[in-house]
Amino acid sequence: MVDWKKPPRLFIPGPIKVDEDVLAQLALPTLGHRGKEYAQLHGETVEMLKEMFFTSQNVFLSTSSASGLWEAAIRNCVKEDETVLAACCGAFSDKWADVIESCGRKVERLKVDWGKPTTAELLDEKLANGNYAAITIVYSETSTGLMNPVYEISKMMKEKYPDVLVLVDAVSAMVGLPVHFDELGWDIALASVQKAFGIPPGLAIALVSDRALEKSKSVANRGYYFDFQLWAKAAAKNQTLVTPNIPHIMALNYQCRKLVKEGMENVWKRHKTMADFVRNWAKENFGLFCEEKYATNTLTTIKNTKGINVAETIKAVQEKHNTIFGNGYGKLKEEAFRIAHMGDITLEDVTELTGWIAEEIS
Ligand SMILES: Cc1ncc(COP(=O)(O)O)c(C=O)c1O
Repeated sequence: MVDWKKPPRLFIPGPIKVDEDVLAQLALPTLGHRGKEYAQLHGETVEMLKEMFFTSQNVFLSTSSASGLWEAAIRNCVKEDETVLAACCGAFSDKWADVIESCGRKVERLKVDWGKPTTAELLDEKLANGNYAAITIVYSETSTGLMNPVYEISKMMKEKYPDVLVLVDAVSAMVGLPVHFDELGWDIALASVQKAFGIPPGLAIALVSDRALEKSKSVANRGYYFDFQLWAKAAAKNQTLVTPNIPHIMALNYQCRKLVKEGMENVWKRHKTMADFVRNWAKENFGLFCEEKYATNTLTTIKNTKGINVAETIKAVQEKHNTIFGNGYGKLKEEAFRIAHMGDITLEDVTELTGWIAEEIS
């Protein structure tokens, strides 16, 4: 039987390892969600998130995982007769496209092979020949370890398609990679906290532009739980629409304090240092699944060029060191494996882990 009281240290790309000091925040006495203490916690947390992601627009806290925000983005920003252009380059971008359809909206998929980026040129070509209300794009595709060139894409969108909403999944990007939300002209950036925020799963964050919030007024059938209009009314009082996951918001507040103190430039550098280390190790021993230029800084997907038995290697490392890393996602199982290097994971951690993997394959 699995002993869940002795959980392995997690280097899968989410949920990731969470430090004891962060876990302690989840055990603090709770607050009433309509009281002034909660309003202070909420307000402070939102202000720090605004600073971290360079926005003066709306920041919403959602007691859901990020998939809920996929749905929220569509239900609030896209009308039933409008079409979304979904940039599909891996399992999560594919899934978001499916979610668009399941919300009763029309979607066109712009597909590239897994491991290849969706470039500004590809999107431009498609947008020039269609009538789209929004695009969806995943910043850091956790299934393949690919980082889409979202800064170039955003520049192109602002110049050529200023009326098309830009909806960004930043689930494994936020914190680890730059997000200059206002300057990029994005309408949504969403993430859940079990990735680079270094918090257990159970909370998600949405950055929402003023124009997306305005548009939602005219979108029918937004539902209740994820209605941006109701969220905005509650947020004006530093509250959430329904009872939120307060322990997680305490942990988020704690993590944001540390991140603001460190400074986002330094946080991104720290992630890049870990990514460079793991990528170099991968290149020396195996290969990278994505072209290096497009490899994300929060996890690395390593091509299994040696044909090792990935599942057996993961099992051996777990048995000896109570630590796990990720097999290839979905169809990449055994063809690749993934190591997370984000949040409170350190260079020492990934040095240790790659050493253990090397021992198993030598
Ligand atoms: C890029 C990306 N998008 C969306 C999701 C779904 O997030 P959640 O599991 O928080 O719903 C994940 C989960 O790993 C992800 O990596």
